[in-house]
Formats: sequence, structure tokens, C-alpha cells
Amino acid sequence: MNEQELNNAISNPRNLGEMTDADAVGTVGSPECGDMVRMWLKFTEKDGQKVIDRASFQSFGCQTAIAVASMATEMLKGRTVAEARLLSAAEMSTPLGPLPPMKIHCGQMVEGALKAALEAGAPAAAAPATTAIPARLGHLAESLGEAAAPKPGKLKVVFE
Ligand code: FES
Repeated sequence: MNEQELNNAISNPRNLGEMTDADAVGTVGSPECGDMVRMWLKFTEKDGQKVIDRASFQSFGCQTAIAVASMATEMLKGRTVAEARLLSAAEMSTPLGPLPPMKIHCGQMVEGALKAALEAGAPAAAAPATTAIPARLGHLAESLGEAAAPKPGKLKVVFE
């Protein structure tokens, strides 16, 4: 794993925070480590296709999950929903290099949050670009409950 890329992403995570005007949100939690990642998506239309205009994330997770989420949200801008659906955890973490076996699930959490958001924002291939916005795209900390307490040795992301 490329430690310099990891440190760069951790020291300056991109697109971190709740997106209040999002069109879709997806959340995943890992039963393995107790970490959670939430991703928000904002869509727009380009050349008659629904594309991702912006993506943001929140994470109570390890540094690898935060780094991958940061990179993924940058990578997603301008992609169609179909293209985003094909993005794998390995592709999203490419700048970090191959993840060690115990960190593979960290990237998969980000992929899971993306897929959940895509499912929420475009449940059918023919769904219109104006898919209904969920009534409440809540703050990740609200759904973490007990899990919101930082774990020893884990990075705590402070929400603004
Ligand atoms: Fe669980 Fe990285 S997300 S250790």
C-alpha cells in the first residue's frame, strides 16, 4: 500500500461531510470491525444521461476507508449511474496500491455505500433523473449510536 498517498488523503480528505441537498444516500456498516461509511450523491443531467455531479461521505472508520472514500468521491464526478455501478473497491483504491488483506473490506465498505446510494437514487434503469429524495438524509453520527464512540487506535472524524 502506498503510505504517502494514504497520508495525503487522510491529511486532506476531499468531499468530507453531509450533503444537505443530495438526491441519494447510502450507508453500510461492517460487522467485522464496527465501522460505518455513508455516501451522498447529487445527480445532474448531461447529454440526456443522468450523471453524478457531486459525491460526499462521512466515515467512522479506519484511515484506509476514509482515504478510499475521499478518492472515490473525486472519481465519481461526471460518471453516469451505469459507470458508477461498475466501479469496484479495487478501482476506487487504485492510488493507494493493493490493499493488504486485512484492509480489503475497508474499500468494500466504500463500494457498498456507493452501491446503496445508487440503488436509493436510481432503483430502476429507466428511473427518471428526478427520483424522489428520501425524506431525511440524516447525519451519520445520528445512526451510529454507541458505535460513534472512537475506538482505540482509530481515527475519529469530526463532523462540522
Ligand atoms: Fe473496518 Fe477499515 S473499515 S478496519
